[in-house]
Amino acid sequence: SENGIEIAGASNAGIFYGVQTLRKSIPAMAEGMNIELPAASINDYPRFPYRGMHLDVSRHFFPVDSVKKFIDILALHNMNRFHWHLTDDQGWRIEIKKYPELTQIGAQRKETVIGRNSGKYDGKPYGEGMFYTQDEIRDVIAYAQERFITIIPEIDLPGHQLAAITTYPDLGCTGGPYEVWTQWGVSDDVICAGNEKAMTFLEDVLGEVINLFPSEYIHIGGDEAGKASWPTCKLCQARMKKEGLKDVNELQSYLIHRIEVFLNGHNRKLLGWDEILEGGLAPNATVMSWRGTEGGMKAVESGHKAIMTPGEFCYFDSYQDAPDSQPEAIGGYLPLSKVYSFNPVPDTLSAEKVGLVYGVQANLFTEYIPTPEHAEMMIYPRVLALAEVAWSAPSKKNY
Ligand code: ACM
Ligand code: ZN
Repeated sequence: SENGIEIAGASNAGIFYGVQTLRKSIPAMAEGMNIELPAASINDYPRFPYRGMHLDVSRHFFPVDSVKKFIDILALHNMNRFHWHLTDDQGWRIEIKKYPELTQIGAQRKETVIGRNSGKYDGKPYGEGMFYTQDEIRDVIAYAQERFITIIPEIDLPGHQLAAITTYPDLGCTGGPYEVWTQWGVSDDVICAGNEKAMTFLEDVLGEVINLFPSEYIHIGGDEAGKASWPTCKLCQARMKKEGLKDVNELQSYLIHRIEVFLNGHNRKLLGWDEILEGGLAPNATVMSWRGTEGGMKAVESGHKAIMTPGEFCYFDSYQDAPDSQPEAIGGYLPLSKVYSFNPVPDTLSAEKVGLVYGVQANLFTEYIPTPEHAEMMIYPRVLALAEVAWSAPSKKNY
């Protein structure tokens, strides 16, 4: 009104988002200027509880300052989850006190492939000191909390674990030797699903992760586990026989179930990529649907929650403009308008299941994204479109 601006909300987060809306209503160059805003009344609320963005810090490392800047921009757009992809085949990036070698051996690769697995390598060691200490992680969590963002850590298992099994070769089926991966893709070298030592390792790591992160969810990956070593591994075969598991998918499911029991026992919930459906979904799990929305639909149909992040609409490592005008990317074509057009609730979903679609997320895997500046170029403006998909009712959207 003429007299001022009033912001009210049903929660502190709601008031925070009101402040963000006001900030976004002021021109970026307004400092020192007199500005006028039209009198208006805005009644605003989110479509989905979960409004997330993911960042892979394994393939390339992003320093704390750049992570905080990323969080700032998420907050400005009412996003409330940051999925922190902390480990992968190409580098382990979170300090684990019980296993200090993870951030020495496991953080470093001897070189990096050039382009799309060209067979040529750059000859430059990568990753020394490139990890977050537990103090830094606590600092980033607090920074996010002040902005009403929950950080969900991911320890991807049993695949995408070459950094760990290089560090401790007896966690793998063959015993190695392994190396922190210098190329991209899906490795056949994964954690041995028959070895109790590997279970202890995973529970120790997750135990420290739980102590650090207050999030309801812990993301345990579960995607793209090359299971080639499991059929010939003595320990894996013994486990399958003992537990009556008929194939390697059931062996993976057995492992994920056990991890779920561990997490639930610590009052946390399990979140995993849609491969956790294969071989039987763990009873309390939430599915992050990346290979289309079908996995999410399947989860929802069976009474589980799902977060929709299909590659076609939500993978910001793909090109956003004509490839010959852009730095090399992983492939695909995802312009801003297409992100904006994403409908996370398929029309075929029954009304009673719609509420199980917990929200949406964009992902940034960073094989081809070596610097924070490049990451920003890939994230913005597309995340602003995703933020509106997450926030606004379809009838209110206007590209
Ligand atoms: C994934 O993109 N592998 C989840
Ligand atoms: Zn094995």
